[in-house]
Amino acid sequence: LGNGLGGTPQMGWNSWNFFACDINEKVIKETADALISTGLAKLGYNYVNIDDCWSELQRDSKGQLVADSKAFPSGIKSLADYVHSKGLKLGIYSDAGAFTCQVRPGSIFHESDDAKLFASWGVDYLKYDNCFNLGIEPEKRYPPMRDALNATGRTIFYSLCEWGVHDPALWAGKVGNSWRTTDDINDSWASMTTIADLNDKWAAYAGPGGWNDPDMLEVGNGGMTYEEYRAHFSIWALMKAPLLIGCDVRNMTAETFEIISNEEVIAVNQDSLGVQGRKVYAYGPDNCYQVWAGPLSGQRLAVVIWNRSSKTSTITAKWATLGLESSTKVSIRDLWKHEYVSENKVASFGARVKGHSCEMYIFSPSTVTRSVS
Ligand code: GLA
Repeated sequence: LGNGLGGTPQMGWNSWNFFACDINEKVIKETADALISTGLAKLGYNYVNIDDCWSELQRDSKGQLVADSKAFPSGIKSLADYVHSKGLKLGIYSDAGAFTCQVRPGSIFHESDDAKLFASWGVDYLKYDNCFNLGIEPEKRYPPMRDALNATGRTIFYSLCEWGVHDPALWAGKVGNSWRTTDDINDSWASMTTIADLNDKWAAYAGPGGWNDPDMLEVGNGGMTYEEYRAHFSIWALMKAPLLIGCDVRNMTAETFEIISNEEVIAVNQDSLGVQGRKVYAYGPDNCYQVWAGPLSGQRLAVVIWNRSSKTSTITAKWATLGLESSTKVSIRDLWKHEYVSENKVASFGARVKGHSCEMYIFSPSTVTRSVS
């Protein structure tokens, strides 16, 4: 792809999961303000992404896309200027088909014009959807927009939203900075866990420059418990998923903020090694006791112990399943309690985990000097 972006998974906010089509320039500006005032921007959430429904139902007489004049009377350029003035970046949305999913004009056969327009507005990110795709395969429809974006001379993050059609992990690394591996998430435990398992399958194909995208975060939207949202965020971070907040950041609860602002969990997601963690072991009824893990820089390991059952249970991670010699001494830091919970541990580690909840740790083998206390 060669645009130099996506060295670590993208972070930011997107309008769809909470606002759907009920968006306007006030919401987007207030969201940018809130990302700054809450401190989320400083933690890395720097893309402010407008999803579907920003445009008029028709192109103008010159064939150009135009912003909905009621919702965005000042236009996208002015919005981009505002977002940039806050030190943030603006994302927009279009579709690799005749129409977007909410039946606004799509960009197929208009790639060059639309990319130029987005660049002239100062857009930094394009999410490119898959509706009304004329039955043309995604491998054919997504590269033209990559080339059009690259040709603008502006550096624009390219996020493919092809819903996992035709196993994108196998071909999209050369096309986009991230690609969706599944259908849309919804704000439920069932959807979130199903998507985590589907995304897991493609772990080997993610890395700096191109990431598997199991869809945007639902944390804070009300359909899951605090514990379930914490598991959602932990697993997305471990899977090196894009961390795109999907709630109304102007009105977050303290619990929502606590989850999405956990710097230690974010650091796992943004670790320079860029290896997607995966499910390494599962046992118990319906395999509901799970250990997910992945390597981090500095020979450390990120480990999530995940209880998919509804009852509190003790779940054990054995060194063998983590790829460690059982005699290796490990210090264990709990990323939700923010403290070391074990030193010189050998062979295995058991955690008592509530139902529909997880614990998340960094394991540092003792050959590694610890730099944080
Ligand atoms: C599709 C995408 C979603 C969202 C909607 C908007 O369903 O997968 O993420 O962009 O379209 O209409």
